[in-house]
Amino acid sequence: MRRKLVAGNWKMNGSLAENQTRLTQLVSALKNKEAIDVAVFSTAPYLFQCKSLLAASGISWGAQDVSEHASGAFTGEISTAMLEDFACDYALVGHSERRELFHESNEVVADKFAALLKSSVLPVLCVGETLEQRESGDTMTVIIEQINAVLAKSGIAGFKKAVVAYEPVWAIGTGKTATPEQAQEVHKAIREYLAQFDADIAEALQIVYGGSVKPDNADAIFAQHDVDGALVGGASLNSNDFVKICNAAG
Ligand code: 13P
Repeated sequence: MRRKLVAGNWKMNGSLAENQTRLTQLVSALKNKEAIDVAVFSTAPYLFQCKSLLAASGISWGAQDVSEHASGAFTGEISTAMLEDFACDYALVGHSERRELFHESNEVVADKFAALLKSSVLPVLCVGETLEQRESGDTMTVIIEQINAVLAKSGIAGFKKAVVAYEPVWAIGTGKTATPEQAQEVHKAIREYLAQFDADIAEALQIVYGGSVKPDNADAIFAQHDVDGALVGGASLNSNDFVKICNAAG
């Protein structure tokens, strides 16, 4: 039985004061939430704040991106070792905003995933298709290409210590959610694809859904067999909404 993971991706939002309120509210509202995994992804300057306010709360924290390089002359980048310094449990790689706005290729994403595997920080590999790709019937072709780049560098064993987030680009920040059936179809297809390489790893893999998850649609999405939680953007900035989504997960 896979545990559900509900993670809030704050994107480029927050401040010391706002985060203080949000994190304190989460810690008190999510007491005794042992049955699920809960995490927040803040921007790098606030990882220290997450560490100090969330340590011992049972809530995890992570980064929204990481460098594929270990150290050196890469101005503005952040290494896996730096994320370890702030006790991050997770880091997102290949979020569609990074792929689209910062032109990250499947290969760069796979390098970041591989770099994280060498650290104690779990990669959360984001995959998903654009509306155009969905409408032309290419959803799984695109997702398999994104996954194959990771398989080529890290092998199926890489997915033993990772999470996959299916985030259809057309559902991110648009208020348009994939229907629970659309999410289930893709999650199942991802799991079946990976099962060809290792059935046990595929069965144990947490595959979470992201794209306009809100308190009023979370129940139906979480009821799907292959949906193991959510990566929540906008609604994670509102503590009440985020807590409601966590409660829907268990
Ligand atoms: P929204 O929940 O705002 O659609 O964002 C989803 C997302 O991108 C999470 O990573």
